[in-house]
Amino acid sequence: MSRGRNCISGLRDATPAVLPSLLLCDFGNLEREIEHLEDAGVAALHLDVMDGVFVPNFTYGMTIVSALRKLTELPLDVHLMMVHPEKYIGQFCDAGADIITVHAEATNDAPAILKQIRDLGVAAGIAVNPETPISEIAAAIPHADVALVMSVHAGFGGQSFIAQVLSKFEEIRSLPGGAEIMLEIDGGINDDTIGQATEHGAQLLVAGSAIFQHEDYAAAIENLMSQVKCLK
Ligand code: DX5
Ligand code: ZN
Repeated sequence: MSRGRNCISGLRDATPAVLPSLLLCDFGNLEREIEHLEDAGVAALHLDVMDGVFVPNFTYGMTIVSALRKLTELPLDVHLMMVHPEKYIGQFCDAGADIITVHAEATNDAPAILKQIRDLGVAAGIAVNPETPISEIAAAIPHADVALVMSVHAGFGGQSFIAQVLSKFEEIRSLPGGAEIMLEIDGGINDDTIGQATEHGAQLLVAGSAIFQHEDYAAAIENLMSQVKCLK
């Protein structure tokens, strides 16, 4: 089984799972941060790659992904917020990504990019910003392992949750290829919003400020998980 398929089946057993978003963490002490998150028992790490063009913010690229790959065995869920992602899929695969998610708004041929990712043995994800209707990714769903629904406008941590996106999960499930796809939500997940996210079907819950604003990551994650609700 490919690295990506392995990762997805492992994550499926772990859902609902909080995935820490490495955007607001202490990059000056990455090794300590990863140890702290591993001790907290997280199932994967969410890596926010931003190019300063697709989003008005800039974070990191393949070098940090490679550095993280050397630090941990945890699955690396790489969220590409960039234009022309097709140019970098191979490099992020070589850097050690287990899941590579591209934005529907960054391509006019999502099925082709998702196939390119899967052909490298990596799990493929398709992401949609809050204003993008699910109809835009209907053709991509059968080619994806993960659908990432943004509950904030991609680009920054610490934004407010956009609850209107929650209906997208049911829409995705009703599409061809939507029954099995892993559903991920990203942005504004905290103890007030994680309940509604999970009762609407989200399985992977990306959290940045709700974890990294606290000293004790395990306690913060435990608190988030205590608010998880069953699918409605
Ligand atoms: C935003 C990123 C999210 C964000 C989450 O573009 O994709 O992963 O960092 O941060 P919080 O949980 O603080 O909204
Ligand atoms: Zn993200």
